[in-house]
Amino acid sequence: MKILVTGGAGYIGSTVCSALEDKGHTPIIIDSLITGKKNYISNRIFYKGDISEKEILTEIFRDHPEIHTTIHCAGLIIVPESSKDPYKYYNENLIKSIQLFNNLLTLGQTRLIFSSTASLYKSSDGTMVTEKSELLPQSPYARTKMSIEMVLKDFSNSYNFKAISLRYFNPIGADPKMRTGPHTQNPSHVVGKLIESINSESNIFTITGTNWNTRDGTGIRDYVHVWDLAQAHVSAIEYFDNIVTQDTPYNVINLGTGEGTTVLELVTAFEEINGTKIIKVSSPPRQGDVAGGYTNRDKALNLLKWTPRMSIEQGLADALKWFNKNNVQSS
Ligand SMILES: NC(=O)c1ccc[n+]([C@@H]2O[C@H](COP(=O)([O-])OP(=O)(O)OC[C@H]3O[C@@H](n4cnc5c(N)ncnc54)[C@H](O)[C@@H]3O)[C@@H](O)[C@H]2O)c1
Repeated sequence: MKILVTGGAGYIGSTVCSALEDKGHTPIIIDSLITGKKNYISNRIFYKGDISEKEILTEIFRDHPEIHTTIHCAGLIIVPESSKDPYKYYNENLIKSIQLFNNLLTLGQTRLIFSSTASLYKSSDGTMVTEKSELLPQSPYARTKMSIEMVLKDFSNSYNFKAISLRYFNPIGADPKMRTGPHTQNPSHVVGKLIESINSESNIFTITGTNWNTRDGTGIRDYVHVWDLAQAHVSAIEYFDNIVTQDTPYNVINLGTGEGTTVLELVTAFEEINGTKIIKVSSPPRQGDVAGGYTNRDKALNLLKWTPRMSIEQGLADALKWFNKNNVQSS
């Protein structure tokens, strides 16, 4: 099947493209390259453009009328930047997504899978969440994602349109075949910070928040290997018409391992994989930090028949391998 992937030159979109290709599907990419990498789309069908531009979408569907589904990964993703400049995030993520959905509709496209995020959940106490758990996004970034979900729900209820939102927990690692991986130069995520610390002279890693109500006081997250995440998208394509139906034209699925890992546990696993000790320094939580949580994965199992296969150790090892190959930090 041909699948349109917005943001296919980015970290997750490019990995999804590899997973689609490995299963015999053909990704068609639209990406403005605002953050994405040109070398992630080499040998792939690629249209350089903005998701909001109707002309380029029209051209894509004229060239590939058999496109089955759109996977919408394009967007801006830096949480602190979204607090500094919320207009930019609402414009780039929300407004442009609405334009994309409307243009897809007018071009007769009725199927969409959306890259959403677990940062919509209130989930602040280190416990498990389900798709029904309370939402309370903490940043403008997360609020743009929640707003897009609301638009998708309304479009699906009112138009001939069906959508699935996949709420990612904490993606780590890189394509195991090292085709693509994280590309952020100044990582704000924990794995990127760990790689940064072992490449600095001091070897210091700062743990922000050590007094949470978790088993060792550090924050808890559900780290999911990006390759497992990509496989879930292939499943969402293949089971699309069972997941969203006339009665349920919009659906939400959490994508995580179902296991919480504390920051301290992650650092220990990283030390073992890398064979070096890291100097750990504690500091107070950053503004907006939460204890975190992990997902129940019954819905992903039932609807996608998807079980994550790769361990945290594999995710850390692949992130390191990718860094050593490309000399970029993991995000
Ligand atoms: N990386 C994570 O930890 C994470 C977690 C949860 C959800 N997500 C979501 O997954 C998606 C992909 O994230 P990523 O980590 O791959 O980010 P990324 O920055 O690597 O990729 C985003 C891609 O979208 C492209 N893009 C941005 N705005 C565009 C526009 N208007 N038109 C065309 N292309 C545009 C960029 O050039 C880039 O290639 C995002 O929607 C993000 O919100 C990511």
